[in-house]
Amino acid sequence: MDSIEEIKTKLDIIDVIREYIPLAQAGANFRARCPFHEEKTPSFMVSRSKQLWYCFGGCNEGGDMFKFVMKQEGLEFGEALRYLAAKAGVQLERQDPRQQGQKTRLLDLMHLAAQYYQQALARAPQAEHARQYLANRLIDPSIIDDFCLGAALPDASALSAFLLSKKYTAQEIMQAGLALQKDHGYGLLDRFRNRIMIPIRTMRGDVIGFGGRTLEADARSAKYLNSPQTPLYDKSAVVYNLDMAKQEIRTNDSAIIVEGYMDVFSVWASGMKHVVASSGTALTVEQIRLIGRFTKHLLFSFDMDPAGIAATQRGIELALREGMDVKVIVLPNNADGSRKHKDPDECIRHDVAAWRESVANSQPFIQFRMDTVLTQKAYDDAFEKKNAVRQLLGSIALLSDRIEQDHWVRALAERVGISGSLLWEELVGMRQKTRAPYSTVVAQPATPTTRMREEILMAALLKSPNLLFVIVPLIQETMLSVNEHQELYRILAPLPDSVRETPDMIGEMARVACTGEYVDRLLLLADKEWAETTEKEFFASVETLARTMRAEYIRNEITRLQARMREAEQHKDADAMALYTRQFHDLQNM
Ligand code: UTP
Ligand code: MN
Repeated sequence: MDSIEEIKTKLDIIDVIREYIPLAQAGANFRARCPFHEEKTPSFMVSRSKQLWYCFGGCNEGGDMFKFVMKQEGLEFGEALRYLAAKAGVQLERQDPRQQGQKTRLLDLMHLAAQYYQQALARAPQAEHARQYLANRLIDPSIIDDFCLGAALPDASALSAFLLSKKYTAQEIMQAGLALQKDHGYGLLDRFRNRIMIPIRTMRGDVIGFGGRTLEADARSAKYLNSPQTPLYDKSAVVYNLDMAKQEIRTNDSAIIVEGYMDVFSVWASGMKHVVASSGTALTVEQIRLIGRFTKHLLFSFDMDPAGIAATQRGIELALREGMDVKVIVLPNNADGSRKHKDPDECIRHDVAAWRESVANSQPFIQFRMDTVLTQKAYDDAFEKKNAVRQLLGSIALLSDRIEQDHWVRALAERVGISGSLLWEELVGMRQKTRAPYSTVVAQPATPTTRMREEILMAALLKSPNLLFVIVPLIQETMLSVNEHQELYRILAPLPDSVRETPDMIGEMARVACTGEYVDRLLLLADKEWAETTEKEFFASVETLARTMRAEYIRNEITRLQARMREAEQHKDADAMALYTRQFHDLQNM
């Protein structure tokens, strides 16, 4: 038995989850308000027999105890494994104890260095210049405290000497990226000298690197010097301030992403603690996924002049591809259209009300792009228009949801006066090109409500296949928008009466045809919905649901066809007109 299995046999998922949230019995299963999103009615279900949890509310996500702990604590799988192993009293085999030992020593070293810098800022006479700098910039003592800011002294090797005295080797100090071999002569030269020191921590709070700001106004050296790549520090895999912001990000269900350290300090001080920084580079997929553990809603506050956009675009594209909802915080401009504030830090210092307003009015990225790309020239000049439209379609093509794409295609069609179907044709061509390497991200054409309704209907059918008598005349397979549901329905609908009386057997068939996970989830959902409902109420509510779905389907189809017919009419496409008209009549007679 491997460690994972051993842990799962020793721990009960009910106990693991109960440490975080209260669970109430619901039929054979347990129910709670979901810890991962705000909700009034409980839609978070846990099955003891299956050792699974699932949220049927906003998250539509579930898994085993590992997945729960990862999500709840924001841990990597390996971290959750260690955590639950300790809880279960299971001994894990270490991969390489030597490596482990070295890494731990470096982490301790970094921690000590951060303390040293902090103390230096607080007390060292040579740090007077640094204290003055922070005072001049009006950086609060509370910010210095919250972010554990420190000072590297002007001396050539103050930190190195300190760390050597603590029995770390020169080799280790260099490995941690804190010192270099002196060019001439013996000994170490501190990498950071005469700078404000900003510790960079992992999501778990371990210091792995530093950013150091020069104290000089017109710096001859780099304004910010950052830790180099080390065994601990990989700048593409860490998000500045995520350790302190993660809970707030979850609570707000959004993250504000800024460029700089100073921006983080000011946004934080303005009371918005769900703020992290990309630290001056385009976001990487790893960084996006780290943030994505806590929210899917990203609010970018970047330099949004054309150069800034170009620099940021890559990160935003990746975020869109990852299925994130990306909005842009547009800082106020002067009357002549020039920028009023260089960055969020300055905006907050000059006019915090304007900052709050900009956050409240953050725009969807595509909307923002439309507003910038569709200049007057793009309306007047066909060539310009073509370029602008293609650029925008390129951005729309990155969205992973077809409903969202449809929304923006319509908006664009309306603004530029090009037919929606032509834009779609272009877009489909682009999507094949741009999305090919991402084929695992399947466009999901169902809204959460539609999806949820379908899921409830499927759950009801699995619970009581007898319902098929009522449902089959109302619902056709094509009315379902989620593939899995269609597949299941394709099996269920034609079943003969005799089989309909045997839910267990149908459950097994469904397991074979779809996946066990899918069927388990539906059975959990059935308990969530109807554990305390009488059979009569249950049948009645499912029938009502099916009627609602049917009515809505017909309504939507009619609207869709009307739009198609209008377009066909504009293009004088008689064949299409005939086809749509026929479909329209069929629908009305359904
Ligand atoms: P900015 O130049 O916008 O700096 O760079 P800032 O954060 O506003 O700092 P102040 O207000 O001038 O003190 C944004 C971010 O880019 C990275 C840093 O992470 C910085 O916070 N950067 C910038 C560097 O790493 N090196 C540099 O030389 C400059
Ligand atoms: Mn700044």
